[in-house]
Amino acid sequence: MILLTGGCGFIGSAFLIQWLNEVDEPVVNLDLLTYAGNPGNLASVQDDPRYRFVHGDIADSALVSSLLAKYRPRAVLHFAAESHVDRSISGPLAFAQTNVVGTLKLLDAVLTYWKTLDSAAAAAFRFLHVSTDEVYGSLDPDATGFTEEHRYEPNSPYSASKAASDHFVRAYQHTYSLPTLTTNCSNNYGPRQFPEKLIPLMIHNALHSKPLPVYGDGQQIRDWLHVDDHCRALRVVLDTGRIGETYNIGGRSERSNMAVVKAICQNLDILRPRAGGQPHASLITHVKDRPGHDRRYAIDDSKISGELGWHPSIVFEEGIRQTIQWYLDHEDWVQSVDSGAYRRWAQKHYSAPAESVARAVA
Ligand code: NAD
Ligand code: DAU
Repeated sequence: MILLTGGCGFIGSAFLIQWLNEVDEPVVNLDLLTYAGNPGNLASVQDDPRYRFVHGDIADSALVSSLLAKYRPRAVLHFAAESHVDRSISGPLAFAQTNVVGTLKLLDAVLTYWKTLDSAAAAAFRFLHVSTDEVYGSLDPDATGFTEEHRYEPNSPYSASKAASDHFVRAYQHTYSLPTLTTNCSNNYGPRQFPEKLIPLMIHNALHSKPLPVYGDGQQIRDWLHVDDHCRALRVVLDTGRIGETYNIGGRSERSNMAVVKAICQNLDILRPRAGGQPHASLITHVKDRPGHDRRYAIDDSKISGELGWHPSIVFEEGIRQTIQWYLDHEDWVQSVDSGAYRRWAQKHYSAPAESVARAVA
């Protein structure tokens, strides 16, 4: 079996659902259920006998060690993180705690477990660390995309914390020979993304005729990667990636923020026209820019495509249409996230992590 961290978040839940649909191997999901962790994301698999949920913190070494000893996973896939740049600007310490200290404690528990494995199991074991292209900093307009050799130049507290976690993963491979893999991917989009991020926020606001807040001039560029393409890439890296290597994953879909917001508006004009007939684009409002805002990210995916044969398959225009349709079809999900209902439910059901841990490990 495999152990996942952060499986109740946006990408972790997409990975878990894809995994259980396409791979017949059990999975344990360790998630703290922060504001971004929604058990409802996994409603479709919660009764699957191959799936176990454990409520807890990656920084709880005793818990992680007990899970590793009990389930003896052949791989750990590390998604858990504080992931939102704007939150890192207003509160960087939580990012250091989860992304740096949490990752380090997780690595240490995994190393101790890995040393107990027999030689065949130890050789087959993998620790896959899911990271971000933001560690490379910002690209000039005509520069080629980030390669794996690009200098680390993190600009936000979020990217600095992810960069630090990448370095610890590297150090654990180099120093202790832990079989690690690191992936650095671009901006994901798709179903079940928390509506603090650009695409779900714009869809949500547009549906409620609220202003669409574009930071600065809106000409910042991101390389949009559909979350299902990303999850397939992670599986390819897990299966065939070379130990100690990093792989950049991108969507081959560079778009300016304004282009993305306009695409959302145009789709909604067709799928859900406004009552008064006004175009959704009339809601676009330029607001104060994000401090230290990176201008452009883009991925050069020649390593993963050339070495491992992966390339993105979902074209942005089709992916964004499907994503918008998903949010239209799941207004109950959006409503529960918006109202905080799922968090109250989680607090009630998981108010005593130690108990749920005891149940899971028993
Ligand atoms: P998310 O914020 O949607 O989910 C994070 C999950 O981690 C939540 O379920 C949360 O409850 C859990 N978590 C947080 N702290 C924890 C802790 N201490 N112990 C256990 N669980 C904890 O994040 P996401 O967008 O799904 O991102 C997943 C990973 O991918 C992150 O490492 C992020 O840095 C990386 N990444 C994300 C993107 C993107 O576009 N979303 C792009 C590149 C890289
Ligand atoms: O590049 C990968 C990264 O992508 C991940 O590592 C992060 O976890 C993920 O959050 C994302 O970071 P960004 O800062 O690029 O994503 P966000 O959705 O917050 O913003 C995307 C762009 O849209 C960015 O240029 C800021 C802008 N923006 C965002 C919001 C929320 C706006 O103009 N208005 C907004 O309201």
